[in-house]
Amino acid sequence: MKKNLLELKNVTIEFQKMKSNLKAVDGISFTVKEGEVLGIVGESGSGKSLTALSILGIVPYPGKVTKGEILFKGRDLLNLDEKEMTKVRGNYVSMIFQDPRVSLDPVYKIGDQLIEAIQHHKKVTLREAQERALKLLNLVGIPHPKRYIEAYPHELSGGMCQRIMIAIALSCQPELLIADEPTTALDVTVQAQILELLKNLRQDLKMSVILITHDLGIIADMADKIVVMYAGQIVESGYVSRILTSPLHPYTRGLLKSVLQLESKANKLYTIPGNVPGLANMPKGCRFFPRCSESIDICSKIQPPVYSVNDEDYVCCHKYS
Ligand SMILES: Nc1ncnc2c1ncn2[C@@H]1O[C@H](COP(=O)(O)OP(=O)(O)OP(=O)(O)O)[C@@H](O)[C@H]1O
Ligand SMILES: [Mg+2]
Repeated sequence: MKKNLLELKNVTIEFQKMKSNLKAVDGISFTVKEGEVLGIVGESGSGKSLTALSILGIVPYPGKVTKGEILFKGRDLLNLDEKEMTKVRGNYVSMIFQDPRVSLDPVYKIGDQLIEAIQHHKKVTLREAQERALKLLNLVGIPHPKRYIEAYPHELSGGMCQRIMIAIALSCQPELLIADEPTTALDVTVQAQILELLKNLRQDLKMSVILITHDLGIIADMADKIVVMYAGQIVESGYVSRILTSPLHPYTRGLLKSVLQLESKANKLYTIPGNVPGLANMPKGCRFFPRCSESIDICSKIQPPVYSVNDEDYVCCHKYS
């Protein structure tokens, strides 16, 4: 049986404000096993990025993880000091972000940025680092890597920049790669290429991946398991095959419906009515209830608990009591 690589238990992230604390992520739990791809989906503001940043220990101030545990190979990352956390970021967990152009330094050549990343993680000579840089560029599908080593970021397309960012993220041979909306800033065709690359890399390198997106369609093809977030909480989680064929939570069903309609090129696009509530005025009962077409009396009054459907399938909805 595959071992747990990462385990989030009841993690809460709060922003300390003058009068009260705002809970941006509220008691979430999930597991990523070795070699597994976990997709996190949810609309804008649901807490996906903050969750990712909490794993790397870089939640922006004044935000803070105030509760829970983040176990990486059984060790709680929340108990590590900055020096130990730097080691984790350099050796075990890496992240790629939405906009590759912002992440690359415009004044340094691609090769130098990659070599610096390699030498930052491992004690190697310049020659060894250069060789490794070329290998990494090859690995992420960059043709004629020697030519690209001398290029500056502005000379490259967005897709190429994202490949470079992936190469930098892989330079430490991470066991877990977190990709936060890695294709949102790219053209549709380039999006597909980058997703294909991530899929192949995950297989070749046997690493675990957390893929964050607001598009359920994107992870349908790549993830083993899905976590669906809504307003800072997980409303449903489980295996992709089950979630795509028989989603349990009305919110998941809504997300799925919008994807399916997109694919069938329907004239009128389905969107879930209403908006995600703001942190300062969360509904009292279920957070999704004001937008839910299936709500019952109790939904407006009491927060639903998490119901275990199967071994790895959970849903947070009163209808399953
Ligand atoms: N620095 C901050 N100060 C106050 N609130 C913040 C801060 N950063 C994030 N938040 C709030 O935390 C919530 C979750 O933010 P997060 O960035 O994790 O959402 P997300 O799911 O990644 O959204 P998106 O799809 O737009 O990237 C949002 O309501 C956001 O407004
Ligand atoms: Mg985000």
